[in-house]
Amino acid sequence: MVIDKGDYKLYKGDCLNVLGGLKTLGVKFDAIITDPPYNISRDNNFHTMGRAGIDFGEWDKDFDLTSWIKPCEPLLKKGGNIVIFNDWKNMSYIVKALEESGFEIKDLIRWEKTNPMPRNRDRRFITDYEFAVWAVKKGGKWTFNRLNDTYERPKIVCGLTSKGEKINGGHPTQKPIEVMEWIINRLTNEGDLVLDPFCGSGSTGIACTNKNRRFVGIELEENYFNMASERIENSK
Ligand SMILES: C[S@@+](CC[C@H](N)C(=O)[O-])C[C@H]1O[C@@H](n2cnc3c(N)ncnc32)[C@H](O)[C@@H]1O
Repeated sequence: MVIDKGDYKLYKGDCLNVLGGLKTLGVKFDAIITDPPYNISRDNNFHTMGRAGIDFGEWDKDFDLTSWIKPCEPLLKKGGNIVIFNDWKNMSYIVKALEESGFEIKDLIRWEKTNPMPRNRDRRFITDYEFAVWAVKKGGKWTFNRLNDTYERPKIVCGLTSKGEKINGGHPTQKPIEVMEWIINRLTNEGDLVLDPFCGSGSTGIACTNKNRRFVGIELEENYFNMASERIENSK
């Protein structure tokens, strides 16, 4: 299924299939900005012991962290930016896959959470960060918009996604629009065509419409696809 609204387009399906179709059509993107599954969900039987682990859903179990990266390469313009969020424990595999697929690693962007989830404070550090790796397709000039008088720190300071940004219960790993806008502002230009192959509830798409970028999103699960469609349409 495809929703085509001109300045944004949403595909419901497996991104590996859709990426192949986009390649056949000869579509070229200025940037790929995405937040794929982190593969951190686990089935567990510890609920009665008060040890409920993380379980975002089946989509976050046994996910192949890297096989989608190579098919992205022909879709990106030379010099195009690619930004991939993930768990820090997975970053080395993602970096290796990017390098093997013709990308040059640039920097690691960090999101510092102002209101992180509580944790056992006597046993662990609180997790107040998430990371995204930024790389560039070789062979062209990349976009980097410095918005600071001195230099840009790769640091986004922002709270967890607010209830106000969630509709119908929201997505379990929904990114705040502010986080996505920070990246869009610095690593894309107005009018650019941006791809998110794992668009979930559509936060990248909303950041794109807010900042006058064109957007293509792909999402496997119907409920998140519908959520993305509703949220992006409402943001216009
Ligand atoms: C981490 S979430 C993205 C959340 C998103 N950034 C947001 O703000 O809502 C990853 C998404 O990828 C989707 N997904 C998993 N495998 C996929 C695949 N093969 N093709 C397309 N989407 C997939 C999941 O259903 C999930 O919604």
